[in-house]
Amino acid sequence: MAYGLLKGKRGIITGALDEKSIAWKVALKAKEEGATFTLSNAPIAMRMGAIKQLAEQCDAEIISADATSLEDIENLYTKSMDVLGGKIDFVLHSIGMSPNIRKNKPYGDLNYEWYQKSLDVSALSFHKMMQTAEKLDAINEWGSFVALSYIAAQRTFPFYTDMADAKAVLESIARGYGYRYGKLKNVRVNTVSQSPTMTTAGSGVGGFDVFYEYAGIMSPLGNATAEDCANYVITLFSDLTRMVTMQNLLHDGGFSSVGISEDMAVKLTQVHQQQQQ
Ligand code: NAI
Repeated sequence: MAYGLLKGKRGIITGALDEKSIAWKVALKAKEEGATFTLSNAPIAMRMGAIKQLAEQCDAEIISADATSLEDIENLYTKSMDVLGGKIDFVLHSIGMSPNIRKNKPYGDLNYEWYQKSLDVSALSFHKMMQTAEKLDAINEWGSFVALSYIAAQRTFPFYTDMADAKAVLESIARGYGYRYGKLKNVRVNTVSQSPTMTTAGSGVGGFDVFYEYAGIMSPLGNATAEDCANYVITLFSDLTRMVTMQNLLHDGGFSSVGISEDMAVKLTQVHQQQQQ
């Protein structure tokens, strides 16, 4: 059911790679809620072509931008304002990539050039997007930035390696820039810390299936899906959350507040019994 929550709002949605992407679901919901927006992804992701299908569905223009390039980001804002006919009300940062994870490097054997790449793509790009927007005065008063994070920023998940550090930086940038942009223009900045989700970025993390199952068993509501995440993000772009800023908002079915669940206790008891047989 649509509520017209984003009626008349203009946005930029990054990171829609394929139908599984969280950004893909956000784009569909944003369209349903009445927004107009542009879609953006790294030039290399464009070659896969799926984003064109989404663009047609959403009646949106695609603007290619490498999130680490200030020039590309500037072009993204300038073109988006041109295409959409005015300043921007919401921006989704749905970008993450770690060469170390891709190459299965453990935390004690990281390649530092790749580490910097992970930080640049997954965290500093959020700062670049806000600093560029500020310089161009591209965002309307009461605009909203959202980036996607993961609980490995606060707690250790060994297989998440340098992405955990990138997420910690990302969340810190949301606080730092949230303060600045709030004072300047009443613009709010938040991160949404999402449950493990079966996407290209998600399932690239070593041991993801186990993470996923574990989080599902621990969470009273189960894992939040990409679609659930999209619904939540839409509320953060809407005027219903005007006073929420500088927060890391946990969207995880309750996972982060549970010590041990009954379901997990049952599972472990079963393992124990099997071992004794
Ligand atoms: P995804 O693989 O569909 O999206 C990641 C996107 O980042 C892709 O579209 C990719 O092309 C883009 N990207 C990579 N390098 C880029 C660059 N240099 N410039 C511009 N774009 C670039 O996967 P998903 O899961 O939808 O990821 C979106 C966000 O959600 C990421 O920040 C991820 O860390 C975060 N997240 C994902 C979770 C999961 O379990 N899937 C859990 C919590 C957060």
